[in-house]
Amino acid sequence: MEIKEASFLSATIKVDEIPAPGLEEFAFIGRSNVGKSSLINMLCNRRKLAHTSSTPGKTQCINRFLIDKSWIITDLPGYGFAKVSKTKRAALEAMIQGYIRRAPNMTLLFVLLDSRHPLQQIDLDFLLKLGNWQIPIALVLTKSDKLSKTALEKQAATMRKSLSHYWEPLPPFFIVSSLTGEGRKELLDYIGSIRSENL
Ligand code: GTP
Ligand code: MG
Repeated sequence: MEIKEASFLSATIKVDEIPAPGLEEFAFIGRSNVGKSSLINMLCNRRKLAHTSSTPGKTQCINRFLIDKSWIITDLPGYGFAKVSKTKRAALEAMIQGYIRRAPNMTLLFVLLDSRHPLQQIDLDFLLKLGNWQIPIALVLTKSDKLSKTALEKQAATMRKSLSHYWEPLPPFFIVSSLTGEGRKELLDYIGSIRSENL
């Protein structure tokens, strides 16, 4: 599948204000700075559609993008961002979780994990919550360009092994780099295959 056209649709911090155009939606979540906004730009072939930053905590709203006038990509704020007050962090987390649990047309949530690190407790806790809520997920290892091929394979195997203690079978698993475009085709084809199943 290819994306021909992507445009900004809406940004909100209030879950109830989100318009529900009834289009299928694919959302992206993960720890702050893991590369969600960069991946969305890479998928859409646009440099500045979603705002990115080397400073964690850049995305603070629920940003939605209209894709080919027929489906939606949602860029969610990252969780686990340490450098904000406890109150602010709790409010952000409540917003993210409220959205994930209530978004009426969310077909799939991509959960991004940094390929440079083993599975972190904060990611596991989040993934287990998603499991409890029965949210359909796919996993994405990001920033693959930062590791050598051997190191990447080792990290991916370690990650799969850690996750297999909790998931049987494992959710779909992708490896991407927003810098090199690795994994773009696989991820878009996967979205395409789910969309055609749902047509
Ligand atoms: P928040 O919105 O703060 O939660 O972050 P985010 O998950 O949207 O991350 P973002 O896309 O803003 O990227 C964070 C930083 O990582 C930026 O400096 C990006 O340039 C960098 N980055 C993202 N993806 C990649 C990648 O695939 N490879 C490399 N080398 N750097 C990346
Ligand atoms: Mg972001």
